[in-house]
Amino acid sequence: MPASLITGWGKCLPPAVLSNADLEGLTDTSDEWITTRSGIKERRISHVETSDLAAVAARHALAAAGRGAEEIDLLLVATCTPDRLVPAAAALVQQKIGAARAAAMDLNAACSGFLYGLAVADQMIRAGSVRRALVIGAEKLHFFLDFTDRATSVLFGDGAGAVVVEASEEAGGLLAFELGADGTAAEILCIPGSGTEGEPSRERRSRVQMEGPAVFRRAVEAMGDASLRVLEKAGVSLEEVDLLIPHQANLRIIEATARRLGLDGSKVMLNLADYGNTSAASIPIALAEALEQGKVRPGALVVFAAFGGGLTWAAAAYRWGARVTPLAASAASLAPVGRSGRELLEPNVLLYGKGV
Ligand code: ACO
Repeated sequence: MPASLITGWGKCLPPAVLSNADLEGLTDTSDEWITTRSGIKERRISHVETSDLAAVAARHALAAAGRGAEEIDLLLVATCTPDRLVPAAAALVQQKIGAARAAAMDLNAACSGFLYGLAVADQMIRAGSVRRALVIGAEKLHFFLDFTDRATSVLFGDGAGAVVVEASEEAGGLLAFELGADGTAAEILCIPGSGTEGEPSRERRSRVQMEGPAVFRRAVEAMGDASLRVLEKAGVSLEEVDLLIPHQANLRIIEATARRLGLDGSKVMLNLADYGNTSAASIPIALAEALEQGKVRPGALVVFAAFGGGLTWAAAAYRWGARVTPLAASAASLAPVGRSGRELLEPNVLLYGKGV
């Protein structure tokens, strides 16, 4: 049975920055509170659509893998903020990058979506129905932010990350994954009004709602336990882990998860200070940056762990191959932005008002 290897990786962060200081003018908060409670210093606000972010990340991943878009059999976009419900963001990405031969679909498991997507691609590769997949996590979360709610609006940001996954006869690659969900806790993190529940209405508004402390407790438990189970499934020990790449939701959640696992902080990839919580995009962005920063060595054992709305959770154990550098670079980039992060949020402020 072939193994699934990540052969390319890429990211796309929209250029407009929203700092904690910018948020002080939008909602009743402070840089000090956001930094100490979450570890976030700034986030990006997208001036383009989710599929645009996804397409740029995909082009970088394809270049890194040395592959053309027409070589892709399966194109998966993990997102809870697609441009439209129909067609899937994956179909829009297919059109933008020219992946003419690919089956294309979206997958929504909130912040765990990228790892769910990786597992789907892995299983289709092992079954022999797909040879090459593009798995993308992409989000434009700012669309759903209400700045009168300081408990949620300071946490999220926009971005995309992507990987090319290929069938290989080499040893290693994705060793094991663990997926789970607890739908009884669906209400503690949700975006009501974002789908078809209720009647059609002109007044429909949809914004992120969250019971932060409840999500916090469950996140630590779910990410820690899923990581331990995945190591057991993969037949490797915690001592062998070289790098944990967790979903970047909150520094305190990540630190508590590492403590629960007994994993040294130096083995944990962090970039949430720069981007906040980008939901399904956070792990592929963090992976791309870990590779850029030389944190993934040839042969490294990498563990990914995530949790998100649903509540969902996921973990994967991955043995990296010999190549940790891209085969080629892509010049793909977004259209220029003429507005600041703060200016891009004016529609949210007009809809809900400011929280200060
Ligand atoms: N600025 C200033 N004060 C604030 C803010 C803010 N932005 N937000 C909340 N507060 C206040 C609260 O009103 C409360 O005040 P009170 O004591 O007077 O009532 C106080 O700070 C403490 O609030 P808590 O919610 O108890 O703060 P906590 O330490 O739990 O931190 C946080 C809140 C950061 C949301 C934390 O609970 C957390 O990270 N939870 C998980 C969130 C998360 O990861 N969500 C994403 C899930 S992934 C996905 O699927 C999208």
